[in-house]
Amino acid sequence: MDDGERGRWDARHRDAPDPTPRPPDGLVGLVDVLAQATGRRALDVACGLGAVSLWAAGQGFAVDALDRSAVAVARLRARAVALALDGLVRARVADLAGALPADVTGPYDLLVCQRFRDPALLRSLPGLLGAGGVLVVTVLSEVGAATPSRFAAAAGELSHLARTAGGCEVLRDVEGDGKATIVLRRAGP
Ligand SMILES: C[S@@+](CC[C@H](N)C(=O)[O-])C[C@H]1O[C@@H](n2cnc3c(N)ncnc32)[C@H](O)[C@@H]1O
Repeated sequence: MDDGERGRWDARHRDAPDPTPRPPDGLVGLVDVLAQATGRRALDVACGLGAVSLWAAGQGFAVDALDRSAVAVARLRARAVALALDGLVRARVADLAGALPADVTGPYDLLVCQRFRDPALLRSLPGLLGAGGVLVVTVLSEVGAATPSRFAAAAGELSHLARTAGGCEVLRDVEGDGKATIVLRRAGP
């Protein structure tokens, strides 16, 4: 992300209303799968204002939340304080182009990457899941998109990731209407 793009994200995050905690889009109708996650560590990749981070903290997860926008991170921290969830949300600024920071190693019991697409980073995510851990990824897709986007995944990109993630069961793999979602679960202990 160059300075111009970062500035645009900062401006969007500055002007947006406070986030309402909500589960990741890809888990709608599937939230029960988290009951089998043995631990309570979560990672929210490119968290933005942190609606998913706040929801996960409300479920008792200790959440690492990462985003390049300092405005988003500051607002998430403030919101976590307001909701008395600051003990569970650790938000910090990180540039995620190509990879996670070296100290973000997992294992995670819930790992979410929603509406941020970096193919190299996405490939690294299944390896951070602990036993029984769940990965939820939703990105823009060129399949069924009303308008083209340079951020959109090619057809089948997430399906390929799901099929090649060793040791993981595919719980959801859907693509259409300009979006692609996968939900994977690492085999339990
Ligand atoms: C569409 S928002 C998604 C936010 C959140 N995941 C959600 O679903 O509401 C994309 C986010 O990616 C962040 N972002 C863009 N490029 C980034 C980068 N190189 N490293 C880290 N975050 C980045 C932006 O600041 C923004 O918060």
